[in-house]
Amino acid sequence: MSVGANELLASIGDVGRTPGGGYTRLAWDPATMALREWFAGEALALGLDLVEDGNGNQLAWWGHGPDALLVGSHLDSVPEGGPLDGPLGVASALAAVGALKASGWTPSRPLAVANFTDEEGGRFGIACLGSRLATGAIAPGTALGLRDEDGTSLAEAMQAQGRDPRAAGPADWLTDVKYYVELHVEQGRWLAPHGAAVGVASAIWPHGRYRFEFCGQGNHAGATAMADRHDPMLAYAATVLAARELASASGQRATLGRLRVEPGSTNSIPSRVTAWLDARASDQGELEALVAGITARAEAAAAADGTTVALTPESVTGAVEFDHALRHRLAGLLDAPVLATGAGHDAGILAAQLPTAMLFVRNPTGVSHAPQESATPEDIDEGVAALTRVIGELG
Ligand code: GLV
Ligand code: MN
Ligand code: MN
Repeated sequence: MSVGANELLASIGDVGRTPGGGYTRLAWDPATMALREWFAGEALALGLDLVEDGNGNQLAWWGHGPDALLVGSHLDSVPEGGPLDGPLGVASALAAVGALKASGWTPSRPLAVANFTDEEGGRFGIACLGSRLATGAIAPGTALGLRDEDGTSLAEAMQAQGRDPRAAGPADWLTDVKYYVELHVEQGRWLAPHGAAVGVASAIWPHGRYRFEFCGQGNHAGATAMADRHDPMLAYAATVLAARELASASGQRATLGRLRVEPGSTNSIPSRVTAWLDARASDQGELEALVAGITARAEAAAAADGTTVALTPESVTGAVEFDHALRHRLAGLLDAPVLATGAGHDAGILAAQLPTAMLFVRNPTGVSHAPQESATPEDIDEGVAALTRVIGELG
């Protein structure tokens, strides 16, 4: 009997669990290190051959060579994230391979299960670092120099876990891969009202992360008259409201979910506020218009207060159209509906190099990046069954 995805997920249910009931599993932290060990153990139990590339991506191979089929996802999370964004895809891939092995099936091409490192960018700020490095979408020097909130660079974090950062960069395995298929929990709530347990992805919206730095004059909260202040918090507040208003008016998405206030003192007017905007839109022009509109409002608000604002794009990812032939083939095979997503994925990064596809498993709450993210055990089994059919078809 092979091990099912529900059982696999239960076996990591305590790793990185936070008191609020969510999961914090950040790149190269103790939780993701424990999950790497877990992945290696499961790969070994299935008789797969584990290889880690210079970026920390783990690939567990059933056979080696060209024209391989890669299936998998990631095991890291956002801070206080849910249990399924990432792990569902890895556990489902392991379960599907286990079921196929147990049935006596053998692949006609090499097959590998992947655990991509640092998909969420929850520690170093840029999402999909593992797949971006492997595909050359980000230069190793840029990635290795990124720093977390404590000032630790990616290079230092890798070194602290015994990895050689000089090995980071384009990965050899990439040229051997013909297809990548990632199963993922649905983010949003579209499958439930459409009565489907599993869907196939059509596209990923273009999206980006942008850093706003609002600068003013730090001063005393009691001794400074309201008219004499140059408080950068006000332009920040206006920017939050502008993001909400402009994204709502154009049917796009804008979020300010991360903030640093300096000096961060209750009885001081701040001198600097750093805020990160996550913006996503249905096409590139809409994304650019949205960010330009929010920036213009931020600048106008800053000017009115005698403060300044500067914007730095930290990462911008263009629209992804998943390979049409592969998408139609899988939707036909599974008799599954096709839907677009506003979330980013390693499959979106790999799509620039090879045909990729995604399967989504119904999320009854629609919530993701939060503890309420969910899928029923029955739907998880349906997702594994779908992925097993996909591997049988492509493998
Ligand atoms: C990843 O989940 C993202 O879309 O931010
Ligand atoms: Mn994910
Ligand atoms: Mn995510």
